[in-house]
Amino acid sequence: MKKINIGLIGFGTIGAGVVKTLRSKRAYLRDKSGIDINIVRICDKDLKSKRSVSVDKRLLTGSIGKVIYDPGVDIVVELIGGIEPAKYIVMESLRHGKSVVTANKALLSDSGPEIFTLAGELGLSVGFEASVGGGIPIIRAMKEGFVANRFDLVYGIINGTSNFILSKMAEKKISFDEALAIAKSKGYAERDPYLDISGSDSAHKLSVLANLGFGVAAKGSGIFTEGIADIDRDDIEYASEMGYAIKLLAIAKRSGDEVELRVHPTLIAKTHLLANVNGIYNAIFVKGDLVGENLFYGQGAGALPTSSAIISDIVTIAKNTSVFCCGSQKALDKCVLSVQGASRIKKMEDICTRHYIKFIALDKPGVLAKISGILAKYHISIASVTQKERCAGGDVPIVMMTHDSSEKDMSMALNEIRALKVIGKKLVRIRVEN
Ligand code: HSE
Repeated sequence: MKKINIGLIGFGTIGAGVVKTLRSKRAYLRDKSGIDINIVRICDKDLKSKRSVSVDKRLLTGSIGKVIYDPGVDIVVELIGGIEPAKYIVMESLRHGKSVVTANKALLSDSGPEIFTLAGELGLSVGFEASVGGGIPIIRAMKEGFVANRFDLVYGIINGTSNFILSKMAEKKISFDEALAIAKSKGYAERDPYLDISGSDSAHKLSVLANLGFGVAAKGSGIFTEGIADIDRDDIEYASEMGYAIKLLAIAKRSGDEVELRVHPTLIAKTHLLANVNGIYNAIFVKGDLVGENLFYGQGAGALPTSSAIISDIVTIAKNTSVFCCGSQKALDKCVLSVQGASRIKKMEDICTRHYIKFIALDKPGVLAKISGILAKYHISIASVTQKERCAGGDVPIVMMTHDSSEKDMSMALNEIRALKVIGKKLVRIRVEN
């Protein structure tokens, strides 16, 4: 029986979930994996607040150093989030001979290559299954299960909070603010939900997936990202009338020897499997050249699903510390980052999609002709157009679906249309995926 000593840094909701699961399943995991996982240190700056699990006070410390420099700790589990001091914790733990498990997508998105390089040089592992999709084993599937595949497409719903908000807006025909208030009252949205609703959390996770799937080291901050705060209930309704749902998608797509990376609200056909992923659930589509399309669906957040991913990393690392397995793990980490490589990230302005566009216009002759004239000037072909019922002030919403057009053409056309006196300043533009 191999005993592994864990030092946990970050005793919040997820940390408490890991402690709870390890306590209730320690014997089960011992029997199943041959690894006895023992928590020897728990570090948090707040040791006063009540947790959902009680622990022996002798395990608790407010000092990071008492974990990362403790020779008795084999694996450091970093659960504090953010860049610093999380990066310091991860790098120092590695330098002191400890493998690391982290759920920190912001950190991996910012400094992943640096962290993995150091771990590789030192023959140590960094487990990050919990960084994307909560309990869904998407990292292991892409790294190991699909190792023989070249990925063409990895995309999905990877932020539960925004998916909950969009689902509620559609289900109850309520506004963004009303749906956000429900998400907060249920504890899904943080008090400051910026990272979730701005799309940044999805961009961080997409950066991790893109690195694994396409070998591109894109920071989340460098990925084109639009959030959901401007989505109007009318757009959800109009899209629905056209046979579409609106979802916040994170998309990584091979395009020649380039990769498209983007996060934005997206119209997808109601018949698409992702259109039926609702509430806080996540779902990730992966298309490989050998396996074709695969869909992973599950709880993308929450203490217990996330603890499932963290413990799977701990067990994997613990098993691989024999000489033979450690070598193969290292090789895998390195080769996935290089072999699958696409040469560069496609410029957003060159990406082509269909668009849903909405204008609020004066209801008078010639307005539609002006709009379609400008679209034609930029080679944008209209697939359908509908004029909706008059708004309170007498203006009318005009909703269009276009055929494929480049981002650049669409942006220039919309700027020109926005300058028309007969058009309101707020235009809506939502990209469409098949
Ligand atoms: N805040 C994230 C979400 C979960 O709403 O999906 C943690 O990654």
